[in-house]
Amino acid sequence: MILNALEINKSYHNGSKVLHVLRDIDLQLEQGEIVTIMGQSGAGKTTLLNILGTLDKPDSGTVEICGQNVHTLNDEDLSSLRNNHLGFVFQFHHLLPEFTAMENVLMPSLIAGDEKDVMGRASELFKYVGMIDRKDHYPTQLSGGERLRVAVLRAIIRKPTVVLADEPTGNLDVGNADRLLNLFKKINEDFDQAFVITTHNPNVAKIGNRRYILENETLLLTDSI
Ligand SMILES: Nc1ncnc2c1ncn2[C@@H]1O[C@H](COP(=O)(O)OP(=O)(O)OP(=O)(O)O)[C@@H](O)[C@H]1O
Ligand SMILES: [Mg+2]
Repeated sequence: MILNALEINKSYHNGSKVLHVLRDIDLQLEQGEIVTIMGQSGAGKTTLLNILGTLDKPDSGTVEICGQNVHTLNDEDLSSLRNNHLGFVFQFHHLLPEFTAMENVLMPSLIAGDEKDVMGRASELFKYVGMIDRKDHYPTQLSGGERLRVAVLRAIIRKPTVVLADEPTGNLDVGNADRLLNLFKKINEDFDQAFVITTHNPNVAKIGNRRYILENETLLLTDSI
């Protein structure tokens, strides 16, 4: 098992008001699995992904990644775990504005000091998503869908064990959404990487080996999508 989340609870406090978002959520992920999570806006999808990705802490419950309980790690070990095992595609892409698309994609490898063969792989990925002629553009010179594809390449460049993707097809047209899903499937097949993908789109949810709906603070397994 590469990810094991147990009894995750999370609420937000605004003044005297408490908003419960996640209640006793369990989620296990085996190597190479694709899990999709659908849910209405505000259901807690981003909150859950942030907790699974160690970017946010639950009120209670534990997250283990590749056998390590993330709540017992110090900051250095936690960032090393993130660097080696996790890839993030954020809902709002967070590309670094002062770097080109190519530089953004190379950034995780530069940070990890692991630059061997990475340019070639990055170029292949840019070709695959139809953006090789855009690789030297800055984020402000790219469309929303192009920025998203760059964010996806940045998440997968180091072949992380798990890719956490928050609405990765959100603002893509049908053709580009299909290409992105095919890229996910190809990476999943070629490298046995696991994915947790949140989405509003039933067609995206379909690529999951397991499909959940996040509703009323809990995850419901469904095979009806
Ligand atoms: N930092 C915060 N402080 C207070 N409330 C928050 C905070 N972050 C999120 N929330 C609330 O928690 C709930 C879940 O938010 P979350 O972003 O996880 O939903 P989501 O399912 O990702 O929605 P969407 O589909 O719109 O992206 C929402 O009602 C939101 O307003
Ligand atoms: Mg969200």
